[in-house]
Amino acid sequence: MQQAKFSRIGFVLSAAGAAVGLGNIWKFPYITGLYGGGAFVMVYLVTILFIGVSLLLAEMLMGKRGGSDVVSNFEKDAPSHKWAWAKAGYLFVIGLIIMTFYSVVIGWIFYYLYLAITGLPTTLDQAQDIFNHLYHQSPWIQIIAHLVSVLIVGAILVRGIKGGIEKFNLVLMPLLILILVGLMLYAMQFESFSKALSFLFMPDFSKLSAEAIIRAVGHSFFTLSIGIGSIMVYAAALPKESNLFSSALWVAFLDTFIALLAGIVIFSFLFQFGGEPAKGPGLVFMSLPIIFAKLGTVGTVVALLFFLGMAFAGLTSAISLVEPTVMYLESRWGWRKSKAVFWSSFFYFAFGILMILSVTDTTQSYLMIGKKTLFDAVEFAVDSFLMPLGGILIAIFVGYAMKKEDVRAILSKDMGDTLFAVWYFSIRYIAPLAVLFLAYNALFV
Ligand code: TRP
Repeated sequence: MQQAKFSRIGFVLSAAGAAVGLGNIWKFPYITGLYGGGAFVMVYLVTILFIGVSLLLAEMLMGKRGGSDVVSNFEKDAPSHKWAWAKAGYLFVIGLIIMTFYSVVIGWIFYYLYLAITGLPTTLDQAQDIFNHLYHQSPWIQIIAHLVSVLIVGAILVRGIKGGIEKFNLVLMPLLILILVGLMLYAMQFESFSKALSFLFMPDFSKLSAEAIIRAVGHSFFTLSIGIGSIMVYAAALPKESNLFSSALWVAFLDTFIALLAGIVIFSFLFQFGGEPAKGPGLVFMSLPIIFAKLGTVGTVVALLFFLGMAFAGLTSAISLVEPTVMYLESRWGWRKSKAVFWSSFFYFAFGILMILSVTDTTQSYLMIGKKTLFDAVEFAVDSFLMPLGGILIAIFVGYAMKKEDVRAILSKDMGDTLFAVWYFSIRYIAPLAVLFLAYNALFV
């Protein structure tokens, strides 16, 4: 099946759009807050540079060489034990699993956009009430907001790579950067601005726990969208002459830049108005709205921009989580695009409702897995097991199953011999070991 191709800038922005998501604006600041700032950020940066970029490049390479859906890309280079590697391609299903909760969180952002217009909470108690009420007692609001997200994502996906995904990213990504840079310029007038900078960039290694290291490594995978074939299917639609290495560097750079920007903005506001950095997942949904409310009309504008930017970031990632499934259904099952989009959307919409019900007070007890709600259990499984699994399969496949000459042939114009040797070593040894370490610690420690 012949797909329309990306333009070069379209590819870089779309892959960056996949990478930059709730992980950057919601998760990065709150885990940085929880794990003490600078030293955590340092570990995160080092992992992105030494493991993240390698894996990103490996995924792009498989996509460009295979030029098709994830399963077919694995099959193309699968050696004699073809059946096992062919199965590895099914890792794209993880994208739909992620979407069952990711889309629900995008829904919350829509709700906060609505709150930004109608009135934000002014005290911490109020803010907590509002969030807890949404989370535990308002399944209908959540389901409707989740549906809105499902419909927007579906509407982009049916338009295909060129007319949907690329167009959407070419507009939203620059807008997102503009919003965040604007917010940063505004935050620069605060005295707390420099405090935010030193919180993020002055490492205090005495604060660095083993757990912090694991979280930093795990997050660097999640934030770069490694391990489920998202970047791979985007790269499958690349024109032949494009440079993969510089694309991978650009994507990693933009992703990191936006996470740091979001961190600087959020912590400047937080420190300026006496918020706590170590507030956990509620950071952007509880601490920030109160601060915005304190700023009056300016605050309303800031809040609208902030949640709008966050919605953009979430949506551009969401489409990348579903596209691998859509592409698979089209190219392997011969489905029309509209049918493929409909059923993929239906799947994560339906399971998303289960996620919502698993955190709703009245239905929670029916949907527990052990001590965890279904919502938490799925998020945990993705973070600590499924994504590392995807990452390791890709690293091992590129490092051991593919022929070295084939790999080198694709990258030879993009990087010199020395860099190639470093990257190849990293893919064969460092990345798989790092992933194993991560999975082992997450599951058993
Ligand atoms: N990277 C995105 C974020 O930071 C989430 C995401 C999008 C993702 N596509 C992915 C994660 C593919 C893993 C795999 O929010």
